[in-house]
Parts: sequence; structure tokens; C-alpha cells
Amino acid sequence: MKRKLAADDLDALREEAAHCRACHLYKDATQTVFGEGPKSANIMLVGEQPGDKEDLAGHPFVGPAGQMLDRALEEAGVDRKKVYVTNAVKHFKFVPRGKVRLHQKPNTPEIRACRQWYEREVSAIQPDLVVAMGATAAQSVFGKITPIGKNRGRLIDLPDGRKALVTVHPSYLLRLPDPETKVLEYQRFVDDLKIAAGLQKKAARAA
Ligand code: URA
Repeated sequence: MKRKLAADDLDALREEAAHCRACHLYKDATQTVFGEGPKSANIMLVGEQPGDKEDLAGHPFVGPAGQMLDRALEEAGVDRKKVYVTNAVKHFKFVPRGKVRLHQKPNTPEIRACRQWYEREVSAIQPDLVVAMGATAAQSVFGKITPIGKNRGRLIDLPDGRKALVTVHPSYLLRLPDPETKVLEYQRFVDDLKIAAGLQKKAARAA
């Protein structure tokens, strides 16, 4: 595995990404929302793209999906402060509907255009485990369309020697209309994250 980049290299990356024009999404978004977390993180969580709140705040997972994620991480025993959190696509894609901005799923060219930042974040952080939350994240992490159902909940070897864990996106849980299904699916999400918690604890013991 490659050597970790210095901490200021991550800052330089963030600064460079702030001016990214690799696809058209920068035109309507407020700002680039880059990943955040300690450089020493051995777990990287990858979401889809910033939502409305994240676009305005400039930080990943600070809106409703972020609150759901925080709750699940805590229940699973993962310390978010020790995790690097990012998104596959770093600009908010939306369509305006009156006063609201409706989230739009990024397409393959947009995911591909943004993948350079994910790759460079991985080089800087050198995580042992990358957690792909949802289909867009999985497509970025594996470099190809990767179904969630068939792959979730187990450690998968990546070509660079790291492990990947596929799970659902917390927004999926927020959208589930049936309360019983919501409880069950939330529990499955927590169970998936417990795999990351195990790895975090193992790394802490080894340190
Ligand atoms: N959804 C994401 O995928 N990422 C965020 O940062 C917020 C919502």
C-alpha cells in the first residue's frame, strides 16, 4: 500500500476540489462538499452526494440523512469522530421546484467525473475499510455498477488490498413508508455498521 499523504496534502486536495469543473454540477450547487474526518481514520464512509443542507453548510451528512447515520453509527458502536466521511459526488444535483430543491440521482458520467476525488481521498487517508452506502457510492468504490442486495453486509476485497463493505444509504431508510419495514431495515443497517465497528475496535487494540 502507498504511504499516507501529509495532512496538508488533504487540505490542498480540498482546496483543489473547491474549484472542480470536471462536470456541470458545480454550476448550480452552492459549493463543493469535500470529505471530512481525521487523517488517521481507518474507516471511510462514502455516501451519494451532498443534499440540500450539506450544500448550504459545506459539510457532508449534516442533514436528516446525517442524523439517521449518526444514530446508527452510535448504536453500532462506531465512533464518527474517528471516521472519514465523504460522498461519491461532491456537488448537490437537484431540480428547483418552487422554493425547494429536489434531489436528483447523479448519473454515470457525473459519478465517473467525480471519482478522481474519491481516489485521491483514499490515497490521502489510506483506510483499511471503505463503507459504500447506497448504489452511487458502490459504483464509485468498485468502479462499476454493484448491486446492493447481493453484496451487502460482508467484507469484500478491493484490488488495492483494502476491504469494502456495502450497505444501504440512510436516505433509503428515511423514505420507507411502512413503519415495520423501517424498523427492520434500520436494524439491518446497524448490523452492517457493526462490521465496521469490529474493525475499528480491532485497529484501536492494535495501535
Ligand atoms: N446524502 C448523502 O449521500 N450525502 C450527504 O452528505 C447527505 C445526504
